[in-house]
Amino acid sequence: MAAHTDSGHADADSDGHTNGHPTGERSAEAVRRHEAVRAAVAQGLVGPATPLVALLDITGIQTSAAALRAAFDAVTAPGTPVLHAFAVKATPLVPVLRLLHNEDIGMEVASPGELALARAAGVPPSRTVLDSPAKTPAELREALALGIAVNADNPQELARIDALVGSAPATRSPLGLRVNPQVGGGSIGALSTATATSKFGVALRDEGAREWVVRAYLDRPWLTRLHTHSGSQGMPLELMARGVAEAYGLAEEINERAGRRQVDTLDIGGGLPVNFGSDVHTPTYEEYARLLASTVPGLFDGRYGLVTEFGRSLLAKHGVVLARVEYAKSAGGRAIAVTHAGVQVAARTVYAPESWPLRVAAYDAEGRPKAGPEVVQDVAGPACFAGDLLAEGRSMPLLEQGDYAAALDTGAYYFAHHYGYNSLARPAVHGFGPDGAGGVRFATVRAAQTIDELVAESGGAHADALTGLNPRTGKTQKV
Ligand SMILES: Cc1ncc(COP(=O)(O)O)c(C=O)c1O
Repeated sequence: MAAHTDSGHADADSDGHTNGHPTGERSAEAVRRHEAVRAAVAQGLVGPATPLVALLDITGIQTSAAALRAAFDAVTAPGTPVLHAFAVKATPLVPVLRLLHNEDIGMEVASPGELALARAAGVPPSRTVLDSPAKTPAELREALALGIAVNADNPQELARIDALVGSAPATRSPLGLRVNPQVGGGSIGALSTATATSKFGVALRDEGAREWVVRAYLDRPWLTRLHTHSGSQGMPLELMARGVAEAYGLAEEINERAGRRQVDTLDIGGGLPVNFGSDVHTPTYEEYARLLASTVPGLFDGRYGLVTEFGRSLLAKHGVVLARVEYAKSAGGRAIAVTHAGVQVAARTVYAPESWPLRVAAYDAEGRPKAGPEVVQDVAGPACFAGDLLAEGRSMPLLEQGDYAAALDTGAYYFAHHYGYNSLARPAVHGFGPDGAGGVRFATVRAAQTIDELVAESGGAHADALTGLNPRTGKTQKV
């Protein structure tokens, strides 16, 4: 595993600016984080009685949204319709969706739950795209009734949409088909969706598939969009761009065969990778947009509307998990900080540390960045298995009892994706921003799960359900 250090006071990486964010340890972003950690401790959001909390940097999220818009504005012909739809799966929290909606970002949803979150955030159907690979007839019916854009995943789903369009031809839903350009995978197999055997979309290079797709469009004048998403973290930008180029070439072929601009919008998915190794935002939206514009210039000349579906790159670097060090111990000569952040808030890192290393920053009991010599140590979580480690053999200032360990870059696909091991309760999520007087103000994004809620969610209301099924126990009537 790559060794990452973030002691909170190391030398700056650089003073450049990327993705709209200043970079380096003394960057505005790092300064905001330090102030937020300090304020969270001072204001009692985290402490002995509440040893785990998650924080979201509102300013950072807004800056990333602006960088995304600017990057594509710079390469698209004036007047091109562009919808940047946030992949809700990355951070499925209603206040986050509302914040992004206010920043002119739409939503990409992939389940009834995600659609409900987008609607609860006030995102209108016209700014929502439904993409999941296993939509039921009821989900499709609802999406078409609402006028939400739908990308069909496969021929069987398209047949279901045929039936719905036949019975309700007046739907306002823009409709498309997802294709898998089969351009290959990135460094994380589980997140590579353009492999030869990926489960997503119509595999374009399979025998007869391309002709089938073209025919499907020619037979359905209402199919006006084409969708592709080649993968997420670990994908080289060039490979993502090649996937988009394949979809563009197909759209051109369909339109030529149709003799009209039938495909009017390309949905190019998300997938911009995130740098988990430092505060620097790289690669940037600007780099990717420029690469796309040079690889697929026709896509940006105003003939096609665009939909993007970025998730991780909008949120990851703006989230922090802050966990109190309950105990500091040592075993076999290894220093170990036992904290309250483990598999329940960082499942990917704990189960696949090679693919998902996280930076961990050390703060003292008052929430100040820790100084001192770097010591090789493990940062452990609270779960009952040996692999429950946020970081293994990491060099950083020694974490001591009562200190805080901050897992950085956890704003997407981490604390919003709670894993219920050991019945560990979901921590609160607080957004932070300036209070206007030089301090930090917090707002609750999600309250901490209470123990009563946890019991209820775990069948608490059905305590007798199983014993009541077994007549041999004789205990079913116990009062
Ligand atoms: C169809 C689709 N669009 C967008 C995304 C978001 O990807 P990322 O968070 O890497 O930008 C995903 C991620 O799984 C996806 O499956």
